[in-house]
Amino acid sequence: MGMCGIIFDLDGVLCYTDHYHYLAWKALADRLSLPFDEQVNNRLRGVSRMESLEIILSLGSKTYSQEEKEQMAAEKNRLYRSYLERMGPEALAPGAVDVLRALRENGWKTGIGSSSKNAPLILERTGLDGFFDAVADGSQITKSKPDPEVFRLAARKLRLSPDECAVVEDASAGILAANAGGFFSIGLGDAAQAPGCRAVLNALYELPDSAGAYTAAPQNSRDYNKAIELDPRFADAYYN
Ligand code: BG6
Ligand code: MG
Repeated sequence: MGMCGIIFDLDGVLCYTDHYHYLAWKALADRLSLPFDEQVNNRLRGVSRMESLEIILSLGSKTYSQEEKEQMAAEKNRLYRSYLERMGPEALAPGAVDVLRALRENGWKTGIGSSSKNAPLILERTGLDGFFDAVADGSQITKSKPDPEVFRLAARKLRLSPDECAVVEDASAGILAANAGGFFSIGLGDAAQAPGCRAVLNALYELPDSAGAYTAAPQNSRDYNKAIELDPRFADAYYN
């Protein structure tokens, strides 16, 4: 069977929640006097909450107990969720609903593969729930991107194999995860620079026009030696 499923990352692809993540981490970082900025925030894309916290704490030299870290993550999440509660469909990427509608009308199965444990709230607030055949999120996995677990779970829920699915991502960690799992990776924004990114979109609304071409693309070869050469940190993720 050819390619017939598209799995979307959520934050930064379908909706612009990334700024709320930034604001909530920034409040915590300011309280701890850590030099957090948009550049550091970019490194948190696709990365789980606790791993994001570790990256932020590494900006300083103090060490914290596990309990303190959990309290900090909870503090950030409370503030982040307060933004989500006030958010609505205006946070969607331009054309998001039209893109999903067009793909589904053309027979594509659609899924979510997100590291976020807040994915259900985001789908509800933006009105996107109902547009997906499968949702896999941060509360259902143990390893976050660049591990392919969340995409593999989404594909399983779609009853498709990885080589029947494309993944749309705005994070390098997400492109690496998609490639590691044998998916066809599509990069938006900075993710287009990630090693091994198979196709690039300038904007989400270009997707329905490009999707036809992907079905004709050669399947992932899983030969990512080149990418590993470029970034050996991800070697494990490629071969599990
Ligand atoms: C990803 C975001 O989608 O979800 C990351 O890109 C975020 O920035 C991660 O850290 C986990 O999100 P949450 O909502 O579970 O804290
Ligand atoms: Mg993202």
